[in-house]
Amino acid sequence: MANTILIGAQWGDEGKGKVIDFLTEEADVVVRGQGGNNAGHTVIVGTEKFTLHLIPSGIMHPGKRCVIGNGVVLDPVALLKEIDGLLARGVAVTGENLQVSETAHLVMPYHRWLDARRETGEGGVKIGTTKRGIGPTYGDKIARVGLRVCDLMRPEIFQKKLAARIADLPEEALATGEFDAATIAAEYLAAGERLKPFVANTVLSLDAVRKAGSSMLFEGAQGTFLDIDHGTYPYVTSSNTTAGGATTGCGIGPQRMDRVVAVAKAYTTRVGEGPFPAEDQALSDRFHGMGREFGSTTGRARRCGWFDTVMTRFAVVVSGVDTLAVTNLDGLDDLAEVKICVAYDLHGTRLEMPPACIEDWADCTPVFETLPGWQTSTEAVRHYDALPENARRYVERICELSGAPPFLVSVGPARDATIRL
Ligand code: GDP
Ligand code: IMO
Ligand code: MG
Repeated sequence: MANTILIGAQWGDEGKGKVIDFLTEEADVVVRGQGGNNAGHTVIVGTEKFTLHLIPSGIMHPGKRCVIGNGVVLDPVALLKEIDGLLARGVAVTGENLQVSETAHLVMPYHRWLDARRETGEGGVKIGTTKRGIGPTYGDKIARVGLRVCDLMRPEIFQKKLAARIADLPEEALATGEFDAATIAAEYLAAGERLKPFVANTVLSLDAVRKAGSSMLFEGAQGTFLDIDHGTYPYVTSSNTTAGGATTGCGIGPQRMDRVVAVAKAYTTRVGEGPFPAEDQALSDRFHGMGREFGSTTGRARRCGWFDTVMTRFAVVVSGVDTLAVTNLDGLDDLAEVKICVAYDLHGTRLEMPPACIEDWADCTPVFETLPGWQTSTEAVRHYDALPENARRYVERICELSGAPPFLVSVGPARDATIRL
């Protein structure tokens, strides 16, 4: 397989885990380059469900290698918990099939505290974060005061840097009594000791993979509209979730990348706060009634709406998307009519591309096109031609309006519920 960057085209939870698991068959190495354990990627193997937060979704395939790149923010205690959870269920995770970058930044307990406080603090903007400490960790990285995996490998240096960071915490944080340097160091250094076999210079190991002619699959976390630069700022996450994040987050030159795949749900969902022009309460109620669309990381009910081609059109541009993987088509099976948001109306002006300012986002109303539904179950369909004609019309229309052709349609959470075009 060509070296492939896979990203989410919407606000995350598009089904990236399922598509990565499906594509891993053809790849040699699967790599995460941004985000942290705010991600929740679901993979169904047989009858078993796995939710991955930090470990690439390729881990379910024996013999494939997975890499956590430098751009990821890593909570070492959470990573060990994830590794132990997989080991307990018989999934092999060793220094052979999982590598962790020595330059990835560490999520510390005070980052989680700062994240939670910003969310509840007076006067701030409530983002509805996952409270995993992601924003404050990237904040420290950019402010050049973060701690990294390589520090964790050197106890003395780690303790010194940790003490300096704790001394710098706000009074309010220190007053909680939660941030004792010795206690944190003991917990983190013990985790570091266990992680030692996994730690590597992943820039060099990925370069060796490339030189050997093996193929790489870059697993994006979150989605285009949660991107720190291109998303619905400030209601975003703190990393580059668009295609560029894969090159800086893994240390690979852009000319080594062969194609970009964007995963889009056949409708739109969002967890957390922020504007959502095509949101539809009846659709949310319907999905929640079916037991669908609850967050994989926090369990929160996802807000739901119609497919929004203003968003996916921009996603295609900003990441140079070659093809689209459309998931959850089966979610629309029962409907008599399906709506597609084709443009926004902003105070009487028609927008084909999203606005910059969040205040304008909030004022946009959707312009819909309505197509007939198919009212037939698609769950057992495995060939594109066997899809109901109206389902095919719908997939082709959303892809045409987005500006990229479909290459895969998913009609169920399982690995085999996948139609390759
Ligand atoms: P990710 O964060 O992009 O990996 O997506 P999540 O795993 O958080 O959420 C996607 C949800 O949709 C998970 O529960 C998947 O098992 C499920 N899923 C993925 N593709 C399909 C599909 O085509 N049909 C159905 N019914 N569920 C799907
Ligand atoms: P995957 O990889 C959906 C959202 C949070 C919040 C905002 C900021 O599973 O698609 P953060 O904790 O990152 O500071 O929260 O981003 N968010 C996600 N929403 N899927 C995700 O990941 C998300 N990761 C973060 O809900 O609105
Ligand atoms: Mg998810």
